[in-house]
Amino acid sequence: MRQDNAVIETDRLGKVYSGRKGQVRALDRLDLSVQPGEIFGYLGPNGAGKTTTIRLLLDLIRPTMGQALIFGQDARENSVELHRRIGFLPGELNLWKNLTGDQVLDYVNSVRGRNDLPYARQLSERLSLDMGIRVRCYSSGNRRKLGLVIALMHKPDLLILDEPTNGLDPLIQQIFHDLMRETRAEGRSVFLSSHILSEVQAICDRVGILRGGQLQAVETVSALRSADFRWVTLRLREPVSPRLFDGLPGVSDVIQSSDGIRLRLVGDFDPLLRAVESAYILDIRTEEPSLEEIFLTYYGSHALSATSVEMAAR
Ligand SMILES: Nc1ncnc2c1ncn2[C@@H]1O[C@H](COP(=O)(O)OP(=O)(O)OP(=O)(O)O)[C@@H](O)[C@H]1O
Ligand SMILES: [Mg+2]
Repeated sequence: MRQDNAVIETDRLGKVYSGRKGQVRALDRLDLSVQPGEIFGYLGPNGAGKTTTIRLLLDLIRPTMGQALIFGQDARENSVELHRRIGFLPGELNLWKNLTGDQVLDYVNSVRGRNDLPYARQLSERLSLDMGIRVRCYSSGNRRKLGLVIALMHKPDLLILDEPTNGLDPLIQQIFHDLMRETRAEGRSVFLSSHILSEVQAICDRVGILRGGQLQAVETVSALRSADFRWVTLRLREPVSPRLFDGLPGVSDVIQSSDGIRLRLVGDFDPLLRAVESAYILDIRTEEPSLEEIFLTYYGSHALSATSVEMAAR
């Protein structure tokens, strides 16, 4: 579906890497669009093709097929001009190790020919980043924060962030989420990759699920949330019959495992806890569903098995 004012629009964008060990189809005919004022989450497991997509959008590598448009302009032909409007956080940062954080920002600011230092300082304060230390002495989380400040300080119209919260502690992740919401509130757009579903759910408007170089689905987060569930394992002092859970709202797939009772829960915990009220609960553990499980719930087993067969055939 073509939208004239799309911030990012790809048309059968593809990349095949050729190496000594043969060819890798890292991205296969990607059709995707990101709208103004949208936070788009690009979700997929390791090796899915997320970084490849980002490198193509930024003209850091050449596509094998197809095209990407950013703000309606060809990502390759107009890359210099486009880069001024983009803030980019790479997955792996190579910063100037002998400079302090302050010096790095000074340098970036002068290369860009702008005056973004006051805002950059505000950002580093919000992210609790000590700017007087040399980059080589930063922890990996602090390097990531500095990378974020560089990506955000010129208030770009589009942020392209490769696994931005990787290595950030939970408190800083929250601040990052706030920064993304503020970006959206100003009508700017964000394209971020992640392999953590909960993070994407927390801040994104839409999510694209990529696997094996193929876009499996694009959904609004609210639609995915309706398929949201958890695996719950209850460890009880005395064994109870799995029949106890029959007909409980939101509960299904109850099995007795060596650990206790394992079940699938949609929605609130309350009905479940009331059902085991008389038992002595030693432990409750919850696990997030995997991408496959969410996908399966959302699209049904038929859709997934078709995809799995296709993937297995490759
Ligand atoms: N320069 C390269 N040469 C050959 N193959 C590559 C190259 N870069 C990536 N690949 C391959 O392309 C596929 C996609 O890699 P990519 O880095 O895009 O995945 P990703 O989704 O970013 O994964 P991760 O979550 O681990 O960062 C993988 O199979 C990877 O091995
Ligand atoms: Mg990557």
